[in-house]
Amino acid sequence: MKLIVVAALAVCALVPCVDASSSRTTTVAWCYNEPACNSSTWSTLFPLYCNGSRQSPINIMSANATANASLTAFGFQNFNNKSAMTTVQNIDNTVRVTLGSGVQISGGGLSGAYDTLQFHFHWGNGSSVPGSEHTVDGKRYAMEMHIVSTKLTYNRNITLATQDPTGVAALGFFIEPMSGNATNSPASWSNLTSYLSNITTEGSIVSVAPGISLDDLLVGVDRTKYYRYLGSLTTPNCNEAVVWTVFKQSIKVSSDLINLFSTTVQFANSTLPMTNLFRSLQPAQPVTTQPASSAATVHCSVALVALVALGLALIRG
Ligand SMILES: *[C@@H]1O[C@H](CO)[C@@H](O)[C@H](O)[C@H]1NC(C)=O
Ligand SMILES: *[C@@H]1O[C@H](CO)[C@@H](O)[C@H](O)[C@H]1NC(C)=O
Ligand SMILES: *[C@@H]1O[C@H](CO)[C@@H](O)[C@H](O)[C@H]1NC(C)=O
Ligand SMILES: *[C@@H]1O[C@H](CO)[C@@H](O)[C@H](O)[C@H]1NC(C)=O
Ligand SMILES: *[C@@H]1O[C@H](CO)[C@@H](O)[C@H](O)[C@H]1NC(C)=O
Ligand SMILES: *[C@@H]1O[C@H](CO)[C@@H](O)[C@H](O)[C@H]1NC(C)=O
Ligand SMILES: *[C@@H]1O[C@H](CO)[C@@H](O)[C@H](O)[C@H]1NC(C)=O
Ligand SMILES: *[C@@H]1O[C@H](CO)[C@@H](O)[C@H](O)[C@H]1NC(C)=O
Ligand SMILES: *[C@@H]1O[C@H](CO)[C@@H](O)[C@H](O)[C@H]1NC(C)=O
Ligand SMILES: *[C@@H]1O[C@H](CO)[C@@H](O)[C@H](O)[C@H]1NC(C)=O
Ligand SMILES: *[C@@H]1O[C@H](CO)[C@@H](O)[C@H](O)[C@H]1NC(C)=O
Ligand SMILES: [Zn+2]
Repeated sequence: MKLIVVAALAVCALVPCVDASSSRTTTVAWCYNEPACNSSTWSTLFPLYCNGSRQSPINIMSANATANASLTAFGFQNFNNKSAMTTVQNIDNTVRVTLGSGVQISGGGLSGAYDTLQFHFHWGNGSSVPGSEHTVDGKRYAMEMHIVSTKLTYNRNITLATQDPTGVAALGFFIEPMSGNATNSPASWSNLTSYLSNITTEGSIVSVAPGISLDDLLVGVDRTKYYRYLGSLTTPNCNEAVVWTVFKQSIKVSSDLINLFSTTVQFANSTLPMTNLFRSLQPAQPVTTQPASSAATVHCSVALVALVALGLALIRG
């Protein structure tokens, strides 16, 4: 412990160490919307760990994702539980929904089971100004939902989990506007977003009535198709403790509901709408994904049929 303090002081003496001690607390302000604390400043204000070398989010280049057959299906425990969501709150520059105990994930190439603690959102400014954190081949989606889980061993203690390079498992789901003129759908998202008007100011919190499950929110996504890489929390202190899973397919939500996020809730210390809450892209990391076996099989059989057809045509000709 002493050694660490001495080392920290030595570093402070050498470089302008703006706020080394405060980087260990969460009381210091970080933000998205002011020049003094926006995400461009984090690597200086929170050099431990925002200036690290496996930072998130990243742009995922799909063509660079290498195959790993260990990236199997997940087990989702209690994702169908319609009373697992306990509260929704305006906190830490986002909208966060807290989950009761018993929600877990496993499989998916993870080393074991993880307790799922909460989910929260990142967005831009309505459905037309995208604000996902990860991008795929340069495409930024309207919103991104992060489901945060910690290794079972840590008994839901996030402080302990963020000290382990694989202590946190984060699931990223992209959210895109539905095509067509649908409004107020899906029903699960209509229900969830109805709470936004109760948490307009920072620190406000309301209970979630039973009725919607995580499965209800994750509609239409094939959860066996995803990208995997090792990264960090995307907010200070940016701990490099996260096994990232970014799903390829997006959740489709009607534009009017997406718009509610940026028109209803407000940032801390202001009456400004909460907008553009995503960290800027960090340097690329090695990304893996499922082998393209099933797709290859389809292509092969299509090719085979074509060859047989060609053969028949030649014989007849
Ligand atoms: C909001 O104001 C309080 C009190 O002035 C301050 O402690 C806090 O850091 C501020 N938060 C942000 C995000 O600016
Ligand atoms: C942070 O604010 C500075 C100064 O206005 C600006 O140049 C920079 O682009 C901002 N960074 C982000 C990520 O918004
Ligand atoms: C961030 O890391 C880079 C490379 O390791 C280093 O050159 C730079 O001084 C660091 N910046 C801060 C604010 O610690
Ligand atoms: C991804 O591929 C591009 C070209 O296809 C290459 O320039 C780049 O270095 C690769 N990035 C990584 C992280 O492998
Ligand atoms: C659903 O979740 C709630 C809150 O965590 C829990 O009390 C309840 O036992 C769970 N229901 C089932 C069937 O596991
Ligand atoms: C493949 O995934 C497994 C499970 O996550 C991991 O242990 C292994 O290191 C990965 N292999 C490669 C080459 O990335
Ligand atoms: C967000 O969009 C609204 C409506 O188009 C606009 O008035 C507002 O200035 C935008 N906010 C930001 C931060 O771009
Ligand atoms: C998490 O663990 C740390 C270290 O053991 C401990 O100081 C802290 O009180 C724990 N937090 C909670 C919420 O239990
Ligand atoms: C959406 O509404 C417009 C105007 O009412 C209409 O012309 C169009 O056909 C609708 N599109 C769909 C997909 O329903
Ligand atoms: C949320 O606010 C609405 C009015 O906008 C009110 O009717 C409702 O009771 C509030 N719900 C909770 C859980 O506080
Ligand atoms: C959300 O679903 C619950 C349970 O079905 C129901 O009690 C509540 O009225 C719904 N809220 C809205 C705004 O649809
Ligand atoms: Zn997040």
